[in-house]
Amino acid sequence: MREAQPPAARSRRRRTVGLAAGTAAVAGLATAFVVAAPPSESAPRPVARATVAASPWMRAAGAPLTVIAHRGAPSAAPENTLVSDEVARRGGAVWIENDVQPSKDGVPYVLHDATVDRTTDGTGPIRSLTSGQLDALDAGSWFAPAYAGTRVPTLAAQLTDLRERGGKLLLEIKGRHSRAEVDRIVREVREQDMTDRVFVQSFDVPSLRYAHELAPELPLGLLRDTLDADPVALARELDLSAYNVSYAALATRPQLVGDLHAAGVAVNVWTVDTPARWKALDALGVDGVITNRPTELGGWSSGRTS
Ligand code: G3P
Ligand code: CA
Repeated sequence: MREAQPPAARSRRRRTVGLAAGTAAVAGLATAFVVAAPPSESAPRPVARATVAASPWMRAAGAPLTVIAHRGAPSAAPENTLVSDEVARRGGAVWIENDVQPSKDGVPYVLHDATVDRTTDGTGPIRSLTSGQLDALDAGSWFAPAYAGTRVPTLAAQLTDLRERGGKLLLEIKGRHSRAEVDRIVREVREQDMTDRVFVQSFDVPSLRYAHELAPELPLGLLRDTLDADPVALARELDLSAYNVSYAALATRPQLVGDLHAAGVAVNVWTVDTPARWKALDALGVDGVITNRPTELGGWSSGRTS
């Protein structure tokens, strides 16, 4: 994910970037990933990158890693709340990752867990609670008294906040969603004219298929904590812009970065919070890092490239 690039139609990018850049990418990256080894924290190999990224979501040569603030700034503010997003934004993050799930009455809310128990003063599955019940919950006191009164944001409030204050959203459709539930999400994104600032990701393949059918202009990322047998083939089938993989899973097959890049698919890695691992991933050539420490990663990454 690059911050300055518009998330233009993915199919168009593959036509316009052309075979030459793709071939250069293959040649360069093949050099870097000839030896299959886990991302090394002590001796990362140098990155050999194409001079022209083959996708608007892939990092250009010399560009810093894209910082993606996981649930906002969860080390400083209660996760998946507007104040957490604001802390991340003020710390320099452009991309914010949040999770979305529907209430009992079908309103999309920003919440990670299947229940509200851990991150609010309420109890029960989010899907068993009405929007009125969710709106009454305190989503801040569990984290610190200073955040008492913080609310569980609706997706609509989240999008309005981003539109007005700035930033882009890596929106995880959390858990299995029906077509109607995905439709509600993409309608809210469109209604707020935010399709060019939202990137959808999910572990749930049917949800990604629905999103693509309903809003083909939205870029898609497949989340994985274990690797698919053939990630490139699956990326092509789902028309993915990114394969968003856990650090541990990528460590089992680091040459996958080159394979996906050669296919025009970006690689974002989660959830990575230490400089040693940032260094290894930077050397490996991944595009973005999803982190609980966005301000620190932003400083580290820009320092590496300045
Ligand atoms: O964005 C990747 C990461 O958020 C996926 O795991 O459990 O934090 O939603 P989780
Ligand atoms: Ca998430």
